[in-house]
This record gives sequence, structure tokens and C-alpha cells, in this order.
Amino acid sequence: MKIYVPRDAAALALGADDVVAAIGAEASARGLSVHIVRNGSRGMVWLEPLVEVEQGGIRHAYGPVTPADVAAILDGTSQKALGPTDALPWMKRQTRLTFARVGVIDPLNLADYRAHGGLAGLTRALALLPEQIVDTLKESGLRGRGGAGFPTGIKWDTVRLAQASRKYVVCNADEGDSGTFADRMLMEGDPFTLIEGMIIAGLATGATRGYVYLRSEYPDAIAVMHEAVRIARTEGLLGQPLNDAGFAFDMEIRIGAGAYVCGEETSLLNSLEGKRGVVRAKPPLPAIEGFLGKPTVVNNVISLATVPVIFERGAAFYKDFGLGRSRGTIPLQIAGNVQFGGLFETAFGLSLGEIVQDIGGGTATGRPVKAVQVGGPLGAYFPTSMFETPFGYEEFGAKEGLIGHAGLVIFDDTADMLKQARFAMEFCAIESCGKCTPCRIGAVRGVETVDRIARGDASAIPLLTDLCATMKAGSLCALGGFTPYPVLSALTHFPDDFSPMKEAAE
Ligand SMILES: Cc1cc2nc3c(=O)[nH]c(=O)nc-3n(C[C@H](O)[C@H](O)[C@H](O)COP(=O)(O)O)c2cc1C
Ligand code: SF4
Repeated sequence: MKIYVPRDAAALALGADDVVAAIGAEASARGLSVHIVRNGSRGMVWLEPLVEVEQGGIRHAYGPVTPADVAAILDGTSQKALGPTDALPWMKRQTRLTFARVGVIDPLNLADYRAHGGLAGLTRALALLPEQIVDTLKESGLRGRGGAGFPTGIKWDTVRLAQASRKYVVCNADEGDSGTFADRMLMEGDPFTLIEGMIIAGLATGATRGYVYLRSEYPDAIAVMHEAVRIARTEGLLGQPLNDAGFAFDMEIRIGAGAYVCGEETSLLNSLEGKRGVVRAKPPLPAIEGFLGKPTVVNNVISLATVPVIFERGAAFYKDFGLGRSRGTIPLQIAGNVQFGGLFETAFGLSLGEIVQDIGGGTATGRPVKAVQVGGPLGAYFPTSMFETPFGYEEFGAKEGLIGHAGLVIFDDTADMLKQARFAMEFCAIESCGKCTPCRIGAVRGVETVDRIARGDASAIPLLTDLCATMKAGSLCALGGFTPYPVLSALTHFPDDFSPMKEAAE
């Protein structure tokens, strides 16, 4: 009997290890031979710990499972039975390309990885010239999933063409955006995909060494990645020549110290070099002068982990999904006050309303949705009147928003948008690296100005919009430059929350 119980951090936090212990105890009491696989999460967080029992090659889901449910599951009489996992509406409606193996395989079993298509992309890439690899990536239309949406193929080409004694691939696994967990889920559920993507990046650009900059708040992902790198090295995937030209790639995991701004690529590079995590002025771009002053590919986990499937199934196949200039699929992370929270990978183009109401099932409190913050703490708040907006880079940009790392945080009608605007300024003040004045001083003044409005001083509203314009235009990086987005969207779409009459009405 084969039973899957996730070792994903969300499942662990909800008691997955206790469930495993209960399965072990119950099986030995019955003299049953049970093989427990610790897989990644299927992404249905409201059902964690989600237990799957394999019968006749089909996996049947049960969830959320507690130790008390185990006996009935083994008896086949459990009330928590949900039917075949792949037939669940949440799973059936997805297009899982980057996350195809997450939750399916044993994350630390290289044979399982290969059996599910792993390393097919690398094998194809090894037969190509660096220029052809880059061209394939350009043709796929893949854009950076870390937030800025920069075309990945163009970035790789810049590094490929740079002349240097050494080049690097740095994976940005800092994942600081509120409501996001795609990087974590990928690393915990299918770490070899990331390693494979980084090797292909090395092959394309001539980089021979890689680093994963992983946030310290992800101990489970850190443990899985360390072990995956060790296995990959033992199996000759890392540190050994992979082609006749003698190309060999090696990599290591480095742990961040917990600053939001260290997710910004130049700040990250400083931190990786052992320096203070302050933003560097651009140019030079990291692709020209990055880690230790050498040409460096800096890409998000999801960007790199999407590369193998592009080579496995072809650029045209990947490009066929999506909308406008947003090609392929995007792992949506649905969070906040929502009934069905989790990870849902789909082609770009669903409307915001479909994602929140249809897939997310509306709020967990059952109250009406008031706003959705898309794209992390620097993303705009969208009201329900803008729910027809299709999920795409340009489509959100046209409405003064951003999709960022594709995190969605949902709020019900009890949310006070003035408080959210204050929070955005306060977050910026706390996380500012201090290098430029509009952000370092502006965010502090922003908190004070929102407080004046909260006290009923309407004359402070134009001051706030003026301050936002200065921060937008004058900040060195997107922390100061994008903080105005949540602030101004709150002010524009929810003016009643900023009204001096509000207090009186309450
Ligand atoms: C304040 C700030 C925080 C950021 N945090 C992250 C992060 O946690 N993860 C990430 O991949 N990109 C983050 N970025 C974007 C990176 O600077 C960079 O654009 C990205 O790592 C490039 O990879 P991509 O092209 O694959 O998206 C952040 C940017 C800013 C300004
Ligand atoms: S905008 Fe803020 S975080 Fe970015 S460089 Fe300026 S002070 Fe640093």
C-alpha cells in the first residue's frame, strides 16, 4: 500500500508529521505493509494535510486529515474521502507545466524525477549551441516571474555575450512578497527542476557556478535544497562534465538574513558577497557586472524552474498558452481572507474576478470582497469594479497595478483601506535600505501624512498624492518607487475610507 503525505511546510504546520506517525502506528498494529512517500503539496492548502492513497495506480485524496482519521482511511470508510486527486475540480482546471511534478513525485528521488520527464529538457539543451538555447527561450516568450517581467531570453543573451573569466547564475529565492509561496512550494516539492533550470542557464551563458539565495524563514525548503544539491552532485549532475566540451556546473545554497529589500537583485548580490544589503545603482546591470563584478544571470525560482519544461516540450508549445505579451502559465498564489487558498497554475488571461470568486470561492468569512492586493506589498488594491481585468503584465500595468510574483491577497468589506495605505508606507519605512531620500525620508513622511488624514485633516490628501509622485519619480529602486501604488489605489478606489466624515459615520 502506497500513501502520500506531504512534507511541504504548510502541511507540516498543519500536522502532517503527526498523521505520518499515526499511519505508521495503525499499519503496524494491523500488520499492514505501508510505503509512505513524503511528497510536495498539491496546492490545496485548505485540505492540508492532504493524504493520498494509491489504489490500482490511481491516487485517492483525503483531507484535511488528523491522526484520528487514519483508522477509517485504512478501513476505506473515511468521511474525508474526496475521490481521485486528479479529478478534483481545483486540479482539473489547472494547466500544470512548471508545477507538473509538485505533489506528484518524491521530491528527493532522482529516479522518480526522471520517470516523470525530469532531465528531458537538459538532454535537449545539451544538443544545442548556447545561442540556440537562448533563441529557444526568447521564442517561448518567458518573462521573469520575480516581479519585473523582464524577458528571460534577452537577459541570458546579455550574459552570454559578455566577455569574462567567470560568470554566475544566481537564483532569487528570497520570496518576500506578502501572500506568495510558489518558490517555496516548488523547492520543497520538486527541487531538481530548479537545479536543472540553473544548469541550462549555465550552459546557455557560459556560467559555471550557481547560487540559490534562499530566505532563512524557509527552513524546510533549505533542507530539501541542500539534500537535492548533494544528490545531484553524487549522481554526476553537478560538478562533472556534462558534454564533450567539458561543460560542468556546480552550485550551492546561501541563506539570506531576512530583509525584504534583499530580494531586489543588486541588494541580493551585495548580501551574497557578504556586504550590507543595500541597492546598487544601475547601470551596470548584473548581467554585465553582477556577483563579484562578473556577468551574472539573476532569475527568480519560477523563471528558472520553467526552463526545463520549455526545452522538454518546445518553445512553441509553451508560447501557445497565455494572453498578449504574457506567454505561458503563471502559478497564482491565492491567499488572505479566501475560502480556497492555495497554488493554482494556469495560462495567463483569467479575469481577476474568476480567480477570486470562482477559483478562490470568495472570502473565508463569507462577507463580500472589498479589495484584492495583487503582486505583493508594492501591488495595487483592486476593487470588485475592476474584476474584469485579465491576468497579464500589460493588462494590470494599464490599470496602475502589477502582477509581481502573482500573489493575491483578498480582503472582505471590514478592511479599512486607509489603514492599508498607512501599512504600505510603514512597510517601506521599515524595509527601506536607506540609500535614496525619496524612499528613506518619504516613507516616514508618508506614515505621518496618512495619520493626519486619519485625524480628519483633508488638506493632507493632496500632500500625500504629491509625496507619492515624488517617490515614484525619484526612488532608486522599486521599493520606494512602487510603494505609491498600494497607497494611491487605496485612495482612488476607496475614497470613503479617507473621508474626514468617516469617523463621524462610524
Ligand atoms: C524591493 C524588491 C524586492 C524584490 N524581491 C524579490 C524576490 O523576493 N524574489 C524575486 O525573484 N525577485 C524579487 N525582486 C525582483 C528582482 O529585483 C529581480 O527583478 C528578479 O529577481 C529577476 O528575476 P526574474 O527576471 O526571473 O524575475 C524584488 C525587487 C524589489 C525592488
Ligand atoms: S528606493 Fe528605498 S530601498 Fe530602493 S534604493 Fe532607495 S532607499 Fe533603498
